[in-house]
Amino acid sequence: MTGGIVALRDLKVDLDSLDSVIEVVDIHKYFGGLKALKGVSFHVKPREVLGIIGPNGAGKTTLFNVITGFLRPDRGRVVYLGHDITGKRPHYLSKLGLARTFQIAKPFEGMSTLENVLIGLLFARRGRNGFRVGMSDLVHEARRILEVVSLEHKANSPAGHLTVVERKRLELARVLAIEPTVLLLDEVMAGLSSQEVEWEVDLLRRIKEEKDLTVVMIEHVMKAIMSFSDRLVVLHHGEKIAEGRPEEVARDPKVVEAYLGED
Ligand SMILES: Nc1ncnc2c1ncn2[C@@H]1O[C@H](COP(=O)(O)OP(=O)(O)O)[C@@H](O)[C@H]1O
Ligand SMILES: [Mg+2]
Repeated sequence: MTGGIVALRDLKVDLDSLDSVIEVVDIHKYFGGLKALKGVSFHVKPREVLGIIGPNGAGKTTLFNVITGFLRPDRGRVVYLGHDITGKRPHYLSKLGLARTFQIAKPFEGMSTLENVLIGLLFARRGRNGFRVGMSDLVHEARRILEVVSLEHKANSPAGHLTVVERKRLELARVLAIEPTVLLLDEVMAGLSSQEVEWEVDLLRRIKEEKDLTVVMIEHVMKAIMSFSDRLVVLHHGEKIAEGRPEEVARDPKVVEAYLGED
């Protein structure tokens, strides 16, 4: 991904020519009578880190599911690199560089850590123009990705034997294999110690720079989200109640109140 050009199949876009990588417009999502999202709109600028915060049940994961095609919104649209992608399927969107991690990582437990990354690579490369890479090259690349997330020593361990922290890293490795343009991270810091959080933020910073990524991250760990995000969007009961620079948002009385009674 050089020069900001996203050269995936038919989607050729110069990131620098865009105001937004993702635009979410008036998204509504209902589950029966429950309104999980009620008219949420915002945009994600090229190369920024946008943090999404809000109490449990605010609609954050539902929003990711809508953006990445796992759920179809009842109203509203999602625009990615200038293209309306509302209702497009997840596998199609991930091939276009829209990659998300899952709050609960579910690796193929019986397969090795390396094999889990290989599956991601095979999927990402299949059908791509000029895909002539042999298996040994893919294995080499999978190992490189495991090195990036410091899991190379677990390459041959069954994924089912990984600790929580290691599973989170494998989840990250899996999406890096897709060569994403945008990384959507759903609570990748949950359950980590304070030291592990610092390590993880450093890692994400490095990956973001190296791969020239735009990052959207849902996170409860305030230390991480305040230090890593360029901007924050705050959801509460399915609505956006605040948006802006982290230090401004943290002082916003509506935001303070939304979090009161949480812990
Ligand atoms: N597939 C689903 N079916 C029914 N209700 C759901 C579903 N997914 C989420 N919800 C509900 O929608 C609301 C928002 O959930 P979610 O997006 O997971 O919140 P968050 O990620 O902010 O904690 C919650 O009340 C949750 O129970
Ligand atoms: Mg969630």
